[in-house]
Amino acid sequence: MSLVFLFSLCTYLPIGIGIYFTITGKLTLAQFVAIQYSSSWILNGFNQIVTSWNTINSTKDIRQQVANLHIQVDHTDTTSVVRDLDVEQISFDFKGKTIFQNVSFDVKRGQKILIGGKSGVGKSTLIRLLLKELLPKQGKILLNGKNYLLNQAYSSFGIVGQTPIIFEDTLRNNVTLGKSATDAEVFRALDLAGLNEFSNESAIKQVIDENGHNYSGGQLKRIEIARALFYNRQILLIDEGTASLDPQTAKGIHQSLLTNPDLTVIEVDHHIPDDIKKLYDQVYQLNAEGMQML
Ligand SMILES: Nc1ncnc2c1ncn2[C@@H]1O[C@H](COP(=O)(O)OP(=O)(O)OP(=O)(O)O)[C@@H](O)[C@H]1O
Ligand SMILES: [Mg+2]
Repeated sequence: MSLVFLFSLCTYLPIGIGIYFTITGKLTLAQFVAIQYSSSWILNGFNQIVTSWNTINSTKDIRQQVANLHIQVDHTDTTSVVRDLDVEQISFDFKGKTIFQNVSFDVKRGQKILIGGKSGVGKSTLIRLLLKELLPKQGKILLNGKNYLLNQAYSSFGIVGQTPIIFEDTLRNNVTLGKSATDAEVFRALDLAGLNEFSNESAIKQVIDENGHNYSGGQLKRIEIARALFYNRQILLIDEGTASLDPQTAKGIHQSLLTNPDLTVIEVDHHIPDDIKKLYDQVYQLNAEGMQML
């Protein structure tokens, strides 16, 4: 018997009995109303317990995922310098269908690579494989020659997605996510992301509206980049990071990232103009059969 049914029974059965006793003269109407009022207090408390119980049950899957994440945490040194990311002959299937196979590439520290390929070919899936959010059917992905886990991926890779994740909070907190930092550290990240106009005390105190409406699309994208740079993420994974921006803004962002010698960049996008393509060390094309160097 579900808790909701039990609660309904506890609510309506006493009303029915009360009405019966009142009609048959065993209770006065005033007594019935008084009992009804006081019992509703008790029932409301009970109702809250039932609702909370249902809410807790509805988060079971999420709690299970968090528990699994905890299991995956190992004690690998996540602060070590990433010298090399090696993708060896990976293939990926989704629901029995091969998305891609024989994908291999290698990225050395400081290199910038671009991966193109038509929509649906698996570019975003490849990013999720690098993050270890998904596992390949075959092949290996190695950092400095070693396998790695999701927690290490999150501490080594900075992610810039198509839609920037922005919080209704100050610019400073959007960059630091609450980690303690000096103003100089925040300014440095903003400068590197090409947001020099916000590298001052008053600008970093400004609150970004819900959904970032008081900043432009390009500025929000750069805030996400500044966050990755603030956290010293060694490899930046960019998934169609500039696709929604005007060509001039997209060019500005690319120029600041692709000319930064300390940063390793892996970008997936099929809209990159030829003059920007020249700034990458390597350009690949992904298709179902594998990845070709262009
Ligand atoms: N976890 C998943 N859930 C749903 N579909 C998935 C999943 N993993 C892979 N796929 C499938 O993999 C294929 C590749 O999708 P993906 O998003 O990686 O393509 P893409 O190259 O990034 O496309 P786009 O250029 O449109 O962003 C799609 O057919 C998609 O349905
Ligand atoms: Mg995609």
